[in-house]
Amino acid sequence: MFKLALLLPLIVGTFGQTPTRCCYSHKFDGVLMEVGASLPLGSSTPTILDATNEISYDFDEKLMWLNRSQVNPVNGNRETIIILRRYHESKEYIVQNGQCYSQTINPDSLTPPCVPDSFHYGGSFTIGSGTNSVNVNNWRGNINGTTFAINVQASDCTPVSESLYGIIEQANTVMTYVFANLKPTLAHPDRFHQQAVCAHAIPIHGAGKRDLEEMIANIHSHLVPFIL
Ligand SMILES: *[C@@H]1O[C@H](CO)[C@@H](O)[C@H](O)[C@H]1NC(C)=O
Ligand SMILES: *[C@@H]1O[C@H](CO)[C@@H](O)[C@H](O)[C@H]1NC(C)=O
Repeated sequence: MFKLALLLPLIVGTFGQTPTRCCYSHKFDGVLMEVGASLPLGSSTPTILDATNEISYDFDEKLMWLNRSQVNPVNGNRETIIILRRYHESKEYIVQNGQCYSQTINPDSLTPPCVPDSFHYGGSFTIGSGTNSVNVNNWRGNINGTTFAINVQASDCTPVSESLYGIIEQANTVMTYVFANLKPTLAHPDRFHQQAVCAHAIPIHGAGKRDLEEMIANIHSHLVPFIL
């Protein structure tokens, strides 16, 4: 009897409750591995998105930096571009082949690194096996007709993976992200400084860089809600 009375609340406390929606550190470094594709409505040619992004993110200061190593969706070559978003200045800088391009961005488009309020709990799982396995909570939801599934580490809300599918910007889209090497600190604050070459940035619109313009728009429309 005694034992049962003591054990019951413990069991309920551990297994019976829906975890609460959580937030990860507002400042972090990490790597975002990204694979996906989008197929414009009425088209039969998908755009493949295959990239590894080094990321530094500061929600409080409204800054984001990406070193994006990607397969160029047009010519298939692997290339690196640096994207710096200074939301508080409504400015984005894109450095490709030593040239800096810029454009205006919506300062409110940065979302907190949190499980959105509208998402529903989808269960708890372990990833990996044995003593090094990681407990994750799964969250699912729908934003503007796109379905999302996010896995976050149960202990501290570190994002582990995120998938989405739906029609985004007139294109059928499927994307998967794996979050790697995350650290809840910023080891390279200099990444957020505007590069010297960007003092003379060329506005991307009208620069005759349609491919780059479309690619950047594509990256923006698919960035995951958990962080970007
Ligand atoms: C970006 O990443 C590539 C490797 O993918 C690396 O060679 C390059 O030095 C990085 N650039 C910066 C500015 O960190
Ligand atoms: C949904 O789409 C509308 C119109 O395109 C946009 O204004 C709104 O911000 C979107 N909502 C979210 C949560 O992204």
